[in-house]
Amino acid sequence: MILLDGKKTSNDIKDEIALEVNGIVNNGGKKPHLAAILVGNNGASETYVNAKVKACEKVGFDSTLIRLKEAITEDELINEIIKININDSIDGLIVQLPLPKHIDEKKIINTISIEKDVDGFHPKNIGNMTLNLPCFIPATPAGIIELIKRYNIETSGKNCVVIGRSHIVGLPISILMARNSYPGNSTVTILHSRSKNINEICKKADILIVALGKANFVTSEMIKEGASVIDVGITRVTSNVTKSGWKLLGDVDFENVKDKVSYITPVPGGVGPMTIAMLLKNTLSASKL
Ligand code: GUN
Repeated sequence: MILLDGKKTSNDIKDEIALEVNGIVNNGGKKPHLAAILVGNNGASETYVNAKVKACEKVGFDSTLIRLKEAITEDELINEIIKININDSIDGLIVQLPLPKHIDEKKIINTISIEKDVDGFHPKNIGNMTLNLPCFIPATPAGIIELIKRYNIETSGKNCVVIGRSHIVGLPISILMARNSYPGNSTVTILHSRSKNINEICKKADILIVALGKANFVTSEMIKEGASVIDVGITRVTSNVTKSGWKLLGDVDFENVKDKVSYITPVPGGVGPMTIAMLLKNTLSASKL
């Protein structure tokens, strides 16, 4: 079994980005600049956004964190986005999801300029991605693709099963794995809450990508011998073993499947760190547009 080390790979990518930014700045160019909007006080969102801002610092980007109160109206949030859309000093904009219930996420994502949509969530970016046209690929699927590429995992003609059809992970990664490129050219099956025979379908997967958000959902009887397993899940559970009193679990029961697989991502330290590295990569690309 080979561990797909997202921590190390993401650090390699960050080093590559930092080197490039250094070159740009030494040649009199402008640092890439990411703006992040955080609405309300969702603890997990707060952690993610802080990690993104910290990562910007690490690679030499400018960053602006805009904190808005939970009670902000949809129109006020739209106005904040429009201000950033027309601000030439900002290259990329992310609005951390989820948003409070009174705000229509689709409307908000539609407001972000597609040239600054470094999350790749705008319908036009998703459309361009589907058609293999220039676009920003959402960071988590892009991170999965990058891991597969850097570990030279064969994907052409392979059975790839994706569990979960979220707009952020399951849907885009299934499109990417079926595209006519490397990584890609896989025969893709998407499983979701209405799917039947989940175990049997997973058992045929050469590549299993799991993004449904249920701790330890995938166990060894669902795994084909020698499969490559990508675990996108992160669930925080209490623990009486760790000092902090909690630990993170993936959607895959790692201990249960590890002796059966060829490749597997750990949780934490797999897909999670790759997501931030790919967001930085998208922001660097946006700054070159
Ligand atoms: N919420 C969970 N994942 C993401 C992400 O990749 N981007 C944004 N903006 N919000 C998220």
